[in-house]
Amino acid sequence: MPKTPLPPNTKVLIMGREGQVASSLRRALKDLVHLEQTFFDQDYAGEGAHFLDVSDLKAIKPLIIKLKPDIIINATAYTAVDKAETENEQALVINAHAPEVMALAAREIGSLFIHYSTDYVFDGAGHTPFKEDHFCAPLNTYGASKRKGEQNIIAIPDLSYFIVRTSWVYGPDGQNFLKTMLRLAAEREELGVVDDQIGSPTSSDQIAAATLAILKQSYHDNQEWSKNLLGVYHFCADGFTSWHGFAEYIFSTARDLGAMLKIKKLNAIPTTAYPTPAKRPANSRLDTHKFTATFRYQPESWQIETERVLKELLKLTP
Ligand SMILES: NC(=O)c1ccc[n+]([C@@H]2O[C@H](COP(=O)([O-])OP(=O)(O)OC[C@H]3O[C@@H](n4cnc5c(N)ncnc54)[C@H](OP(=O)(O)O)[C@@H]3O)[C@@H](O)[C@H]2O)c1
Repeated sequence: MPKTPLPPNTKVLIMGREGQVASSLRRALKDLVHLEQTFFDQDYAGEGAHFLDVSDLKAIKPLIIKLKPDIIINATAYTAVDKAETENEQALVINAHAPEVMALAAREIGSLFIHYSTDYVFDGAGHTPFKEDHFCAPLNTYGASKRKGEQNIIAIPDLSYFIVRTSWVYGPDGQNFLKTMLRLAAEREELGVVDDQIGSPTSSDQIAAATLAILKQSYHDNQEWSKNLLGVYHFCADGFTSWHGFAEYIFSTARDLGAMLKIKKLNAIPTTAYPTPAKRPANSRLDTHKFTATFRYQPESWQIETERVLKELLKLTP
């Protein structure tokens, strides 16, 4: 993981606390900068933690102005892709309106704003990786709300921002496909997983490391952000697979690491055999050349990173 060159008194505000990316960012940044985080769960209270429900749009700006961070990283999101089909308004508030309010506040106090988006802003057509300037045509409500969030940020003049689109996020924290597969493999002997959606499983730790790479490359000693680097980037792990390929690798690696799994048969099924309320893109490949060339950071392969996360997770499981 790259070390940040930021002065240790740099104040970073992470929006979100217990989510996958928020948790990885906390681990990656905690000894490097002065860290503040927002949390959503009313019961949590800790040092450097501030309650904020981002759907309460009026509450966002006063908190940001009070804390005056140098950098704001928005790791909050409405990520329940299927539920978003019926909770359209809630998804739009959290994924589109709240980031806009954060970005406006960031501009007002001269902070850098970092935001994450998704492969689901594309229509999934074709078989080649999407570049940053490819036209967006989301297939579902979640993707549309994330695209609206991007547009709201991009439209703000004189804002210093990075938008990092990533894909298929998993990690040791929160809920994700890898954890669901481990649970199902311990319960069932046979499972069907779709093999006609292709993308790159990307760990939340990789996204945190990529965020540090951005900071490292774009910060100058004179406390300015390289204006020519700002903008939209694609970042994901190296290599592509299907959900079925990801599941197969999870099971074989977990077994190699000593996990006792009940699963005997993993069937490759088409998307049509696994209907969901939200339509998913068949092609979720992201082209990361712009990111790797600009920030000189080469992501690890999805297989190596999956194995590392599995080791971490299985160590925690008795
Ligand atoms: N998950 C994926 O597969 C995926 C794929 C592509 C892109 N992305 C993008 O990557 C980014 C990070 O996603 P993730 O996987 O880390 O998401 P996640 O695990 O679902 O975490 C979501 C975060 O949002 C916070 N949050 C949700 N509603 C909130 C509200 N009303 N007020 C305050 N906080 C709220 C949660 O707060 P608490 O911590 O307080 O619970 C949590 O920290 C998002 O922009 C997402 O769109 C994700």
